[in-house]
Amino acid sequence: MIETRFTQLVGASAPIQVASMPGVSTVELVVAVANAGAVGMLGTPTWSPELLDAELARIAKATSGVFGVNFLVPFLDPNCVAVAARRARIVEFFYGEPQRALVDEAHAHGALVSWQVGSQGEALAAESAGCDFIVAQGTEAGGHVRGQTSLLPLLSAVLDTVRIPVLAAGGLATARDLAAVLACGAAGARMGTRFVACSESGAHPDYVKALLAANAEDTCLTEVFSEIWPNAPHRVLCSAVAAAQATKDAIVGETLHGGVATPIPRFSPFVPTAGTTGNIGAMALYAGESVTHVRSVEPAAAIIAKLVSGVERNRR
Ligand SMILES: Cc1cc2nc3c(=O)[nH]c(=O)nc-3n(C[C@H](O)[C@H](O)[C@H](O)COP(=O)(O)O)c2cc1C
Repeated sequence: MIETRFTQLVGASAPIQVASMPGVSTVELVVAVANAGAVGMLGTPTWSPELLDAELARIAKATSGVFGVNFLVPFLDPNCVAVAARRARIVEFFYGEPQRALVDEAHAHGALVSWQVGSQGEALAAESAGCDFIVAQGTEAGGHVRGQTSLLPLLSAVLDTVRIPVLAAGGLATARDLAAVLACGAAGARMGTRFVACSESGAHPDYVKALLAANAEDTCLTEVFSEIWPNAPHRVLCSAVAAAQATKDAIVGETLHGGVATPIPRFSPFVPTAGTTGNIGAMALYAGESVTHVRSVEPAAAIIAKLVSGVERNRR
């Protein structure tokens, strides 16, 4: 157990939040992370309030640990906020100016509220909007990247600016990384890419295989996978950019959305999941610079246990 202001606030025993990664963060992954004492996050951009409610009920039945729901602001269904806040400990937002009305709505239904931010100004805005904690995301991060500053300078600036607990995100995968951000003053770390390659991940096996073989320099910040979500830079494997640009196919594959086979257009931002078929290598293979340390597929609980024991060893 590592106690920080974050663990005290949310009631977790490990200062680790596993990022919500739609398609990757299955109910099973969220439950495994919560049962291991860290914080599991569900990401649900295309879900109806009814489906969200049912899946959160399933999670609540399977764990007494801490879990939350992440909303991408450009795709937010406002009816989902109250549903999430009634069932989850944390409601979190990303990729939009912090809004007091959203924070108040989630608070009113019983959740703590956080915002993932990419700049000092956005951190201050999130605190002023009433957030209970924030996540400072550096440009090393996998997936969509909000700001233009790498993690350490951003984290230091944000810690100088706000009083609420701050989690660090972007390029973190090891116990040494976690120890480093805790030493800097962060109340915990948020990790994404490391958990794409875990036993409970919903990612397509070829995506996981590509991560296991890649290093930080094999990732790039791009706007290539912008179909339906323009002007939103994201960090992916460079191989995915090359493969998507090389193909002439307007449709690169097919996936299951709510049990219905749905075509995947070229440059779609959706990750390939276990049920996806087609040209997997040409899809959005999000990866942070942390990918250098993704070398094995293990159960989420084993990854979390190693992170915690490794920090304790580093502190001795
Ligand atoms: C596959 C993938 C999907 C992601 N989807 C989301 C998302 O829906 N919402 C969000 O707030 N962040 C999302 N992120 C970004 C994470 O919140 C976090 O900033 C990032 O994973 C940290 O960097 P790391 O991947 O090096 O650990 C995603 C990241 C990845 C790798």
